[in-house]
Amino acid sequence: MANIVIIGTQWGDEGKGKIVDILAEDANCVVRFQGGNNAGHTIVINGKKIILHHIPSGILHEKIKCIIGNGVVIDPEILINKELKNLEKENFKVSQNNLKISKNAHVIMPYHKLIEEGRENCGKILKVGTTKRGIGPAYEDKISRRGIKVKDLIDEKSFSEKLDEILLEKNCLIKFYGFDTLNKNEILEKYLKYGEILKDFIDDTHKILINEEEKGSNIIFEGAQGTLLDIDHGTYPFVTSSNTVSGNVCAGAGFGIKKIDKIIGIVKAYTTRVGMGPFPTELKCKTGDYLRDKGGEYGSTTGRPRRCGWLDLVALKYSANLNNLTEIALTKLDVLDGLDTVKVCVGYKYKGEVFKYFDNDINFLNNIEPVYKEFKGWKNNYSNINNFEKLQKETKDYIKFIEEELNTPITLISTGPDRKSTIFKN
Ligand code: GDP
Ligand code: IMO
Ligand code: MG
Repeated sequence: MANIVIIGTQWGDEGKGKIVDILAEDANCVVRFQGGNNAGHTIVINGKKIILHHIPSGILHEKIKCIIGNGVVIDPEILINKELKNLEKENFKVSQNNLKISKNAHVIMPYHKLIEEGRENCGKILKVGTTKRGIGPAYEDKISRRGIKVKDLIDEKSFSEKLDEILLEKNCLIKFYGFDTLNKNEILEKYLKYGEILKDFIDDTHKILINEEEKGSNIIFEGAQGTLLDIDHGTYPFVTSSNTVSGNVCAGAGFGIKKIDKIIGIVKAYTTRVGMGPFPTELKCKTGDYLRDKGGEYGSTTGRPRRCGWLDLVALKYSANLNNLTEIALTKLDVLDGLDTVKVCVGYKYKGEVFKYFDNDINFLNNIEPVYKEFKGWKNNYSNINNFEKLQKETKDYIKFIEEELNTPITLISTGPDRKSTIFKN
């Protein structure tokens, strides 16, 4: 294998978890480099479904070292009481031998969640439809240098002093949004306990990656969210609060740029989006409902119904360029089975002119009309197919067109949630 980056190319939920889990078979190490528990990555093994939020999707393979990198924001309450407990319940072994957490990752604190809740409840034009997990406020504090790092949870003196200063400001905001103010000692006590539980996992993950690199390990870097949710390159302000593009791997994991061999973009065979913001190919009709029902398009984290629409090649070209994709994994192809026609957006009509470039300006995207190329649908049932030759000509035409338009080979095709439902094309 090699050092591989896995990136969501759309608005998230492309099926990154499934693909990382499959590729992890040949890896030594899987690293998350951004986002937090806004992510919900689903893996299905023999009908058993596991949803991961912070923990890399390599954890179901016993011998793999999983790393939560410095670029991730962590909610210890969810990590300990939900994710780790659930893995234990499902008999997956997690210890300091196979999970490491960067000492420099930032902590999502109770005030982050309240402030976000307050903002989302009051928001009108700036309501984003976030996951309400405190992600944005936690990244704000990181950038304004008022954040609590994971290492602070095991250093009572430093943690206590920081909290005194931080809470002066946060409690004003919390009051402003109509919530009861927070008590410092309660937070200190609770979060020091989390630190005690996590202390054996906390480490210098940059150093671990240097060692892995020296050993010649195969490392997978697992992105969360998707390119169109990137804080800089997405549909701002309807984005998440981190850089989701491949360029952030190095900063978010602490890894050298020249050491990356492949960048695989995960492309869902149609498009979905959760939360507010422009979505040029959205289908507010029966076909959209068909995709939602057949694709089980309900949030893995919040359970919200996902908005559904056709594949958007204008957006995907932008994504392929931004991420420097070397390969594509096409997921959820089976969901398109049974449609009379399958459409793909190849241009945006704006004020009478057709544009082939994705300008991330929301006023532009809200006012364009998609230009579609139509494909004849296919009636075969592709659910769980793992042989490319079993695909109908119409489906192969669809796949070839995507490859040609994006100038990137599709090397893997997914036809169902389970590991087994995968076509390795090349
Ligand atoms: P992620 O956030 O990118 O990891 O994706 P999610 O886990 O949030 O959403 C993808 C959903 O689609 C999950 O429920 C997966 O089990 C499911 N899934 C993944 N690949 C396929 C596929 O090829 N076909 C079908 N039908 N479902 C899939
Ligand atoms: P995975 O990793 C889909 C969306 C939210 C909202 C916006 C900002 O599973 O693909 P945030 O809570 O991040 O501040 O919300 O981003 N969002 C996601 N949508 N998949 C995700 O993660 C997402 N993480 C955040 O719905 O629109
Ligand atoms: Mg998801």
